[in-house]
Amino acid sequence: MRIFEDINPLQAFLRSKKANQENIGFVPTMGALHQGHISLINASKVENDITICSIYVNPEQFSNPTDLVKYPRLLQEDIKMLEAASCDVLFCPSDKVMYPERPKLKIDFGFLETTMEGKFRQGHFTGVAIIVSKLFHIVNPDRVYFGQKDLQQFLIVKQINNELSFNLQLQCVPIVREQDGLAMSSRNSRLDKKERLTAAQLYQSLTIGKQNLLVTENVFDTKNKMAHYLSAFNDIRVEYIEIVDAADLNVVNDITQHEQVALCIAAYVGNVRLIDNILLFNID
Ligand code: PAJ
Repeated sequence: MRIFEDINPLQAFLRSKKANQENIGFVPTMGALHQGHISLINASKVENDITICSIYVNPEQFSNPTDLVKYPRLLQEDIKMLEAASCDVLFCPSDKVMYPERPKLKIDFGFLETTMEGKFRQGHFTGVAIIVSKLFHIVNPDRVYFGQKDLQQFLIVKQINNELSFNLQLQCVPIVREQDGLAMSSRNSRLDKKERLTAAQLYQSLTIGKQNLLVTENVFDTKNKMAHYLSAFNDIRVEYIEIVDAADLNVVNDITQHEQVALCIAAYVGNVRLIDNILLFNID
């Protein structure tokens, strides 16, 4: 795997590949890689000649400074995982390379900014949008891969891609889970043993919600059932439970009026904030 820390040599390398008519698939990450990230790499490997992963813990998207300090940084392990997955290129820039100056730009995403994550993480999506746009310009890929795990982030990237004419092919990859259902996340390593066991209840509540919603078609009752189920666990503090249209995050009242519905949750397990979601209608 070729590893680049600077922009110019990376771009020279990628230009030579493009000149050979090779397609480029891009997977942006913040590292501390797990099988969820690797599933994005695998998806890119299937569709592109060259797969590039970036690892950069982007300070601009952390609204909580403690979360930034505690974010796991495991570059050597990450390199091994990427090599095992036959990733072709890693871009792992420093703060100086990515931000010679702190960005002043602020982006208003309208409704997406005010709901779910937007409500609880001020400025988060501006931070995501700026780093993702910078990376798109630097890498100039054909296809980019994001996880359904961060559904709202995917929709934000979709909006940037459309409104700023990046014209990239955007792929949404399903959530990879641990055996007990917990969605894989770099933050899971910060859970202690007991919290790690409890964290699986978030997925449990989503599956209970999904079953209930399919049977009763009652959104209000389903949200209550999920909240009630989780209230039995002392380590869990729910921030939100939302049942939304998966295409735009608009609130759903009647599930029969929507093509796809997502049940979404954000909760603290101990001091670690986790998010997860599940789609209501199985796509066959
Ligand atoms: P990070 O949290 O490292 O996630 C990188 C990508 O992996 C995201 O698209 C995310 O949705 C996906 N992902 C995370 N957990 C997953 C899982 N269990 N299954 C499948 N995919 C999963 O998201 C970010 O980094 C950053 O915000 C970034 C886009 C890199 C911008 O800084």
